[in-house]
Amino acid sequence: MKKLLFILIFPLSLFAQTQSKETTHWRPAYHFTPPKNWTNDPNGLIYYEGEYHLFYQHNPYENKWGHMSWGHAVSKDLVKWEHLPIAIPEDSVWIFSGSVVVDKNNSSGFQQGNEPCMVALYTADYHDGKKEAQYLAYSNDRGRTWMKYAGNPVIDLQMIDFRDPHVIWHEKTQKWVMSVVFPKEFKVVFFTSQNLKEWTRAGEFGNQGEVRKIWECPALIEIPIDGNAQNTKWLLFVSTSGVMDNFTGMQYFVGEFDGTTFKNDNSPETKLYVDFGKDFYAAIPYTDAPDNQKILLGWMSNWQYAGDIPTFPWKGQMNVPRSLSLKQTSEGLRLFQQPISMLKPKKDYQVFEKSDFVLSKDKEINGSSIFAKNSYMVEVEFEVKSAKKFGVKIAQLKDKKDDKKFVQETIVGYDVRKQQLYLDRTKSGMIIHKDFPSVEIADMKMQGKTVKMKILVDKNSVEVFGNDGRITISDLIFPEENANIFSLFTNGGKVKVKLLKISDLSL
Ligand code: FRU
Repeated sequence: MKKLLFILIFPLSLFAQTQSKETTHWRPAYHFTPPKNWTNDPNGLIYYEGEYHLFYQHNPYENKWGHMSWGHAVSKDLVKWEHLPIAIPEDSVWIFSGSVVVDKNNSSGFQQGNEPCMVALYTADYHDGKKEAQYLAYSNDRGRTWMKYAGNPVIDLQMIDFRDPHVIWHEKTQKWVMSVVFPKEFKVVFFTSQNLKEWTRAGEFGNQGEVRKIWECPALIEIPIDGNAQNTKWLLFVSTSGVMDNFTGMQYFVGEFDGTTFKNDNSPETKLYVDFGKDFYAAIPYTDAPDNQKILLGWMSNWQYAGDIPTFPWKGQMNVPRSLSLKQTSEGLRLFQQPISMLKPKKDYQVFEKSDFVLSKDKEINGSSIFAKNSYMVEVEFEVKSAKKFGVKIAQLKDKKDDKKFVQETIVGYDVRKQQLYLDRTKSGMIIHKDFPSVEIADMKMQGKTVKMKILVDKNSVEVFGNDGRITISDLIFPEENANIFSLFTNGGKVKVKLLKISDLSL
């Protein structure tokens, strides 16, 4: 009997052991991760009284999706986070994605004391596959503790798929406006309210752009064109997820919003993507950020393989928060993104600056103390000569038997003939899912003869900002801990390296 028990229990205990090994070498230095357990979408992004709040889809008990609740963290700079207790726990319903507003004029009547209250609008998922409805909770202590509203639900259309409310204050009409999706109808529906509790259905927008994958996590913002606050447009963000065409994608529409309806400036067929990688999803903007900044934060993963992410004791992370701007380009108004300026190198420690050399073959760059930590930023500017392809290779690992060969590497390259920026993670390390090895490609014109790349590496992720943030590509990678060689490369000719700057972000 003892023997039988041993045989039965031994493999289980082995499994438990592998599960309990912390994957510290994949814990990002400057990307948000929960201390432990699962996260997906960022929720309720709001700045209030010196604190950036990050609520997030969270399973408090396990390293997989389930028991959905809102986790909570605050930060002064969006880089270092203070982890707080669960903000909104599951009860008979799961707490799906949503947003938070500060109710400055106490329109809801929930304020107690002198300080305005925070109001969260989120989706309650009945996790019986039968219903999703919009619920409300409020906090009178800067988001630390929340009361679920006794009058919930605030919107119930008796629908199975109806989720992800994003609420803004619409100055012109002096109303709260909620954008919320009918995912399988590829539709954003707008509701308006005076008090955040009673909502009236207004206009809707949909069936444009990407309509093969379900729509989730909508968000509306008003944004200046070329920095001119007197001349603005509205952006409507929608995340789209589904099996075809690289699975995930976040789109944006540029247009007008009058308080009830969104009007797309482009043709219904136009598809504008926020990011061309596989790991950028469910991003929403910060409400009330200082100086009217537009800051976007996404979940750095993909429903195709989110459950297979091999990290422990956490699973899931956020992208780097991005500053957004809208600029007039020869193709029309386009979104530009940059990593937030608060992301400062540990020391202003730059290894190479103003290099200005001509590269005719691959070149390993010696900066081992920075590269060894695998949390850094590379800024590189190329002037195209005869090269057909060029770029950088990161997190490279040499073959033990042949040190001219690399068994692991992630490539960020530019294809001159096709005028495309690409990120190749086919040899980036652990393959966590059959579709994980992939090459992400985005059209990106040269600026004259110049191609610029800003690349953020952080242990298990790479985010590329091409040509001043016109194009971004975000991917997870799972390299071995000692895969930390960094090279410049060129194929089929020469390229001039006008600038190469590496900054230590190990923090
Ligand atoms: C998007 C999403 C949302 C939903 C949440 C559930 O990633 O599917 O639509 O509210 O995740 O965790």
